[in-house]
Amino acid sequence: MRKEELTFYKEYEQFYAMAGKSEAFAEFCREAFGDDFSQDGFSDWRQAERILKLIDSGREFHVLDVGCGNGKLLKWIHGKTGAWVHGFDYSANAIAEAKRGADESADFIEGCIGEVDFPKDSFDLVISMDTMYFAPDMSAFIDQIMSWLKKDGILFVCYQEGDVMPKTEDAHSTVFARALASKGIGYEVEDLTRESYEILRRKKVVALKHEDAFRRERNDEWFEMLIGQAAYADEPYESYSRKLARYAYTVRKPEKYVSR
Ligand SMILES: C[S@@+](CC[C@H](N)C(=O)[O-])C[C@H]1O[C@@H](n2cnc3c(N)ncnc32)[C@H](O)[C@@H]1O
Repeated sequence: MRKEELTFYKEYEQFYAMAGKSEAFAEFCREAFGDDFSQDGFSDWRQAERILKLIDSGREFHVLDVGCGNGKLLKWIHGKTGAWVHGFDYSANAIAEAKRGADESADFIEGCIGEVDFPKDSFDLVISMDTMYFAPDMSAFIDQIMSWLKKDGILFVCYQEGDVMPKTEDAHSTVFARALASKGIGYEVEDLTRESYEILRRKKVVALKHEDAFRRERNDEWFEMLIGQAAYADEPYESYSRKLARYAYTVRKPEKYVSR
């Protein structure tokens, strides 16, 4: 399938074209998430800090971000840890911006999940924030990531339910968790639902604060989108958490995937 026909392709091209230019959106991200990574989701500073804890800055360390967008999170990770950073995303606008100003410590590829490939044992850490659900074949994609990871490598995934993916029972019944379990791959999981509820409430307050700035830039539709996304923020947590959930999975490369 041509990538132009994939889910949300055109929307992400427009999103990253806006994110590359809009000072209102950059300020919105800084205030709502604690840092501007051009987030389309919920990846705030607490989730970024969880990633830093998985990085050993005392040795050569390679991090891949699946669905890296315009690469701001990876560049921040490099600045904090000195890690070599690699990312891919199907958005041409996002990758063009990521490549701007990137030095040899960063490697950005425009391409789709299922098509982009790397040599075995390339990365110490693979992260994916709000992107795993775009894998056309989750099971095959997990196998591919396991082959990209070095021995003792880690996959860290932040995974939302209730918007792109339907809400399931709990952290062990998501499409991602079931695919891991069917392969006998163990994982640790942290429930971030309360955190994402707080982020959503903050997103609404901050978007409203910057409404005039969005409108001055003629970015009215993005302001409306942010407000639309935050509709659930008005509900009490108990009813929110029946409809949406967010989990952080940490998966250590199992012995059976280690190449001999
Ligand atoms: C919800 S956004 C998350 C972006 C970023 N990781 C974040 O946390 O803000 C999903 C990202 O995945 C990318 N994407 C969606 N489907 C994809 C696919 N099939 N192959 C590669 N990238 C894809 C989009 O361009 C977008 O950057």
